[in-house]
Amino acid sequence: MSGVGNERLDCPKTGTARCRATADESRVRRDRPGFELMSARAEAIERRFGDGGPSGDGAAENEFIHRVISRKTVRRYSDVVPSDSLLDLLVAAALSTSAKSDFQQASILRVTDPTQRASIGELFPSMPWIGAAPVFFVFLGDARRLQRVGELRGKPVRNGTLEGFFNASIDAALAMQTMILCAESAGLGVCPISVIRNEVDKVAALLGLPDLVFPVAGLCLGYPQSEGYVSLRLPRQVTTHLDRYDDSALPASIDDYDRRRDARHAIPREQQRSNAEFGNAAFYGWSEDKARQAAKAEGAAFPPYLRSHGFSFD
Ligand SMILES: Cc1cc2nc3c(=O)[nH]c(=O)nc-3n(C[C@H](O)[C@H](O)[C@H](O)COP(=O)(O)O)c2cc1C
Repeated sequence: MSGVGNERLDCPKTGTARCRATADESRVRRDRPGFELMSARAEAIERRFGDGGPSGDGAAENEFIHRVISRKTVRRYSDVVPSDSLLDLLVAAALSTSAKSDFQQASILRVTDPTQRASIGELFPSMPWIGAAPVFFVFLGDARRLQRVGELRGKPVRNGTLEGFFNASIDAALAMQTMILCAESAGLGVCPISVIRNEVDKVAALLGLPDLVFPVAGLCLGYPQSEGYVSLRLPRQVTTHLDRYDDSALPASIDDYDRRRDARHAIPREQQRSNAEFGNAAFYGWSEDKARQAAKAEGAAFPPYLRSHGFSFD
């Protein structure tokens, strides 16, 4: 898998001048309060997007935002296990996230039992970090609790609807992302794991999930063994819109993105997907890789699992 464990924090291809400060320039930076910080922010945004878009310079200093822009998924961890008190704090932070209608439909399950961890890990041999990470959480969409609250109060609640599924999914995703950012700010590295849904029947059985409770994603967590690298995002011209949606620039922007991303982190020839079906690509960029990946849709087991566990989606 591309992006696994490589430390690639090169200067971006564009804006390299910023990365080659001379001794004189460094002295000038030191002599101008705030310049160093502004430059670091612009570099972080350039490293993330490389699209020549706004740098955010001029906005107030904010270390948290800077850290978020520079964040990266980590899949290799040291053997050090984070303390229970830190994990308790991260769970508290995750459950402090906003929740649709205050229904609070996220649940967090930590898998500590070594046999259970091994059983889950063995289901996904291509992702050894699932079994090896010092800590493994599963973030659950929990549409069951609200239905039970309705029963407790004698008010019939039918929460296996699309609305119930969607709200519970979003609550769980927001809780997970809140834990991700808090864990990273505490020096930990994390990797979300949605591949568990590809074997949802087995995973749900191992975790004892009842009807109306489903895994949104797992989360590997530990102290980073390797730095990883900041993954270049799509140009903001593609992912942001002003007043009206407009994707007319998509083809040219994607071509440009493919080239820039390839220049930073080329996908090795041996990692081209589904060559037997699609052939060897002379140029294999992000869009070719993602189109091939998406053409082989994952998650076929998930809809039948949900339908047989309380969801009607009406
Ligand atoms: C919902 C979700 C599910 C993910 N599932 C997996 C997974 O199953 N295995 C994995 O190795 N990475 C997984 N990832 C990590 C993504 O591959 C990673 O975020 C993406 O490549 C961008 O890299 P970055 O986070 O370092 O910017 C997942 C990320 C998200 C948000």
